[in-house]
Amino acid sequence: MAKQDAIRTIKPCPRLEGEITLPGDKSISHRAVILNSLARGAAEVDNFAPGKDCLATVRCLRALGVEIGKKGSRNFPTLLVSGAGKDGLKEAANVLNAGDSGTTMRLLGGLLSCQPFLSIITGDASLRSRPMGRLIEPLRLMGAEIYGRGRDSFAPLVIKGGKLRGIDFILPVPSAQIKSAILLAGLFAQSNTVLRQPTASRDHTERLLKQMGASLESNGNRISLMPLTSPLSPLSFHIPGDISSAAYFLVAGAIHPNARIAIRNCGINPTRTGIVDTLIAMGAELKIENERWEAGEPLADIVIKSSELRGIEVGGDIIPRLIDEIPVLAVAGCIAKGKTVIRDAAELRVKESDRIAALSKELSRLGAEVEELPDGMVIHGGKTLSGTEVDSHFDHRLAMSLAIAGLVAKGETTIKHAQVTQISYPAFWQDLMSLRAEAPSKARRQ
Ligand code: S3P
Repeated sequence: MAKQDAIRTIKPCPRLEGEITLPGDKSISHRAVILNSLARGAAEVDNFAPGKDCLATVRCLRALGVEIGKKGSRNFPTLLVSGAGKDGLKEAANVLNAGDSGTTMRLLGGLLSCQPFLSIITGDASLRSRPMGRLIEPLRLMGAEIYGRGRDSFAPLVIKGGKLRGIDFILPVPSAQIKSAILLAGLFAQSNTVLRQPTASRDHTERLLKQMGASLESNGNRISLMPLTSPLSPLSFHIPGDISSAAYFLVAGAIHPNARIAIRNCGINPTRTGIVDTLIAMGAELKIENERWEAGEPLADIVIKSSELRGIEVGGDIIPRLIDEIPVLAVAGCIAKGKTVIRDAAELRVKESDRIAALSKELSRLGAEVEELPDGMVIHGGKTLSGTEVDSHFDHRLAMSLAIAGLVAKGETTIKHAQVTQISYPAFWQDLMSLRAEAPSKARRQ
């Protein structure tokens, strides 16, 4: 990591103005390439997420024998996937590497459990410390032979794939990764799978499976899936922009005193729009325009302007709908008037970093008043932030959130290990810089 270590310096600017065309949604991209690999026939997937996480999924699928070509530009690539059908995967010649990507490891963990060969999948140090027991347990109930380090708690995972049976399972955590892993395994099982989720999590797997011809029904928080009797149909589509990447600019626009930012082609799947609902509840001047559909997913343009934010309490069912956006929501909380309380978000402790501890530490360095809770934080907003040196903790969402804080802090904010934005948003720094404008405007009163 040291070789490519980067620091970035952010200075405040008098105005933020412009348009952002987002990278493709990371969650949809992982699923689009996995499911098209299982389909029979060719698919073109435009606006595939350009970050390292989704490229790790592509690398693993290629190692499993899937032909995947790439064209287009670096930040807006198109994938050409030649799906080999439901029996098309082959044993990889080496250990599969998911890098930093929990979605790659967990989704492929489910898929490989029902393939007739051996797989070993590992990841970087951060991924090897994240919980895998939650994946291993339900797959074992389906009959899978899947093992992990630390008494089946951590990667590397060793999977001796074989015939599985469907299960009727209550998901103990509202995790879309685990839900999707079970559904992928269920596609090849010998009986139906029923999943019950206490709280809804992102439903991109369900939507794509339906579009591609699987027999899947979702009814409230109950999902039932029949095993495939014929291969999935390939699905060519344009992946909507990633609302998790949009979140940085939504917060930047809302907290900056002189801003107007238009975000184009942003996915607005209701299982992902918790950040929009929360910012509106905090008083953000946010408009959703040109709503439309792409392959069963809703998308729109979003315009955000400088706003007077108020503190808020967030917790309960909304948490899975904004889990990845909590770091930047915390930045909004620092600037909002009054207290922001985030609860029921203990999952943040097992993401790419312990986001509760890391955020509390780094935002406090900038002068924010943050109290750490076991499952969230309390932020006493309305303080003026002062630029200083902060650390991303090698977590892409922290690096980008701290950059947004730096836009409204006094003086310079220096972010260590800033290269991690490559995980989900390689063009983040250029896009952020493109919004900086020198001439004053009256955006707040527009
Ligand atoms: C994801 C699900 C969420 C999210 C992650 C992406 C997905 O994780 O935090 O960034 O694509 O399924 P969990 O399933 O662990 O909640």
